[in-house]
Amino acid sequence: MSVTPGGDVPGNLGDEVTGPGVFVAVRDGYDAVYAALPRSGTFSRIWRASAYGGDFPAEFAHIGFLTTTEGRRLVDLLGLRDREVLVDVACGTGGPGLWVARRTGASLIGIDPSAAGLAAARQRAAGSGLGQRARFELGTFERTGLPGGTAGGLMSIEAFQYAPDKRAAAAELFRILRPGGRLGLICFEVDPARTAGVPVLGADPVPDYAPLLEGAGFTVEAYEETPGWAERVYAAFAAIIGAADTLTREMGEQAAASVVAEAMVTIQLKPYPRRILAVARKPGPP
Ligand SMILES: C[S@@+](CC[C@H](N)C(=O)[O-])C[C@H]1O[C@@H](n2cnc3c(N)ncnc32)[C@H](O)[C@@H]1O
Repeated sequence: MSVTPGGDVPGNLGDEVTGPGVFVAVRDGYDAVYAALPRSGTFSRIWRASAYGGDFPAEFAHIGFLTTTEGRRLVDLLGLRDREVLVDVACGTGGPGLWVARRTGASLIGIDPSAAGLAAARQRAAGSGLGQRARFELGTFERTGLPGGTAGGLMSIEAFQYAPDKRAAAAELFRILRPGGRLGLICFEVDPARTAGVPVLGADPVPDYAPLLEGAGFTVEAYEETPGWAERVYAAFAAIIGAADTLTREMGEQAAASVVAEAMVTIQLKPYPRRILAVARKPGPP
């Protein structure tokens, strides 16, 4: 299958956005993938080995690229106070947010537009003994549904590139953070030239999030490329494409088509100049 700007993109991707601010195709794709994960040992094995080299506790496994080294750096830079509320936006099945909550003693609110992801996150929290201090709710970057100043700290892993309106998303993150609190973001920058006319990634491509965050009122304290990201991203997606038939059998058509489409778009277009870790502070008392 070819992937050309404005051309034949696999997986029926489209740019239709829901009222709360999420691409319909992205939400539906993640719903299908999260529902299928428990029945696909192949996906889990491939992802764990290639995307993060087994370097994250299986109890908090995720479908991004986060390693424990990156997670520790994020925790250090976030500087959460004891028992603060941590909000993880685009939490998926909750692994990274629950891992940070356990390390820091924070309580956790996970927000995601995927009902299947939230259901898995709730189950995981209960199974990890964190059910009493974690809750998971439907929402998006643009509309979290949380009152202003709810978050002592904010995190989002491997998702901000999907926000259809990144200025609105940054404004919403600023609104729900307490003055003096920090946002930690790990995500991909998107190259506008490589994604022109491409659904989802081409809708609002941002090649550098620092000016966007400053424009929303944040002070950017750290902005760094995460080491070794490209090797892991391309190895994981190549392995997904190689296992497409098995994944279709185990996960079903829709979920497999979604992960294979993302793999093909990433490998063929190379839309991501960098994967970055950014930490930004909302001005206010420490
Ligand atoms: C690659 S997954 C990462 C999930 C989780 N952070 C992790 O590391 O496992 C991307 C997540 O972003 C969520 N997402 C996509 N578009 C979103 C939006 N506009 N607002 C909030 N979350 C979104 C998806 O539902 C999905 O759970």
